Amino acid sequence: MREIYADHAATTFPRPSQVTEALSTYLLDIGCSPGRGGYRRALDAARLVYEARALTAQFFNVPQPEQVVFTPSVTYSLNLLIKGLLKQGDHVIISSMEHNSVVRPLTRLVQERAIELEILQCNADGTLNPKDVKNALRSKTKLVVLTHASNVTGTLLPVYEVGEILAGEDIFYAIDAAQTAGSEILDFNALNCDYLAFTGHKGLLGPPGIGGFCISEKAAQATESLVEGGTGSRSEDENQPSFLPDKFESGTQNVPGIAGLAAGIKLINEIGLEKMHDHKQQLTSAFLSGLAEIPEIRVYGTKNPKTTAAAVSINVDGLDNGDLSFMLEQCFGIMTRSGLHCSPLAHRTIGSFPQGTLRFSFGWSNTLSEVENILKALTEIIKENLQ
Ligand SMILES: Cc1ncc(COP(=O)(O)O)c(C=O)c1O
Repeated sequence: MREIYADHAATTFPRPSQVTEALSTYLLDIGCSPGRGGYRRALDAARLVYEARALTAQFFNVPQPEQVVFTPSVTYSLNLLIKGLLKQGDHVIISSMEHNSVVRPLTRLVQERAIELEILQCNADGTLNPKDVKNALRSKTKLVVLTHASNVTGTLLPVYEVGEILAGEDIFYAIDAAQTAGSEILDFNALNCDYLAFTGHKGLLGPPGIGGFCISEKAAQATESLVEGGTGSRSEDENQPSFLPDKFESGTQNVPGIAGLAAGIKLINEIGLEKMHDHKQQLTSAFLSGLAEIPEIRVYGTKNPKTTAAAVSINVDGLDNGDLSFMLEQCFGIMTRSGLHCSPLAHRTIGSFPQGTLRFSFGWSNTLSEVENILKALTEIIKENLQ
């Protein structure tokens, strides 16, 4: 049985050979840490990290490479900016499609710093009217956090429009680009945002354990570091450096991860982001059209491939989504993710809490014939189990 991997919203698989080679090249040929020695291998590592930073900055259209900070994941990035920025009593606006990586650190600060958390109710298809953000602004609003795309329905949120609304306001703006980095155009300058948080192991095709964020100069000053320690710079000073990126990058870095991330970005640049985006959109479009032909299936989200990333959530009345996921893998080798996808708020919004949904998500390596096979498998399972 040939496997079909349809869980790219969780992590990308299989990883391109360029990415795995970049990891092994670092481990075999360099193997040492940047900023931790004056010998050739340490300098090669420093060059690798600098080039990866410059490449990432160019990819997201960030003015200076130093404005790119590497972290282990988007979860870490979001925790850092949320906990490093917010103070007692601040007002924060988020959407009702956010991931627990946003909701949980904020909930902790509601308890510990009495921040006021305002959750804007999205429509049942996950869409958000940007005017709702404008109407929710208050004098003590400190931060707006929005996911660019829901990891449950793929629904795209109007992050550029909200950037225009917030321009000129004394408010920080953070975007969770976990689902869209490497898939949608993310232009830090045009987004008018202060933090663009990304993860390396999804659309950017890199390995797990590497992510980061792009940060504005204003936010870099206003945000406290979460972890202090060795940076390889200003070692004589007991205080954490205040300059970028060292302020937020303590401890030995995940250089193989950074090498893999850079290889993923290079590959996207070579193939072309637009071409990859169009391919994923075509797969999503074919999948949505096929699902519309199966009356037993309920599809969530906008059902419009132009307003969604390549993730589709469904339920079948009378079939548990966990059982469905299990049958898809056992009988057809199709890998999916069922349940709440770490986004209970999003499931409440679309009306699928607490049972969750079955999510299919596509990547560059998927093909139209795989999508057809998934549709056939769903038809067969429904026929066998419900009719
Ligand atoms: C929208 C969103 N935010 C945050 C995350 C967390 O990503 P990571 O586990 O790479 O930190 C995910 C991952 O599923 C996500 O989809």
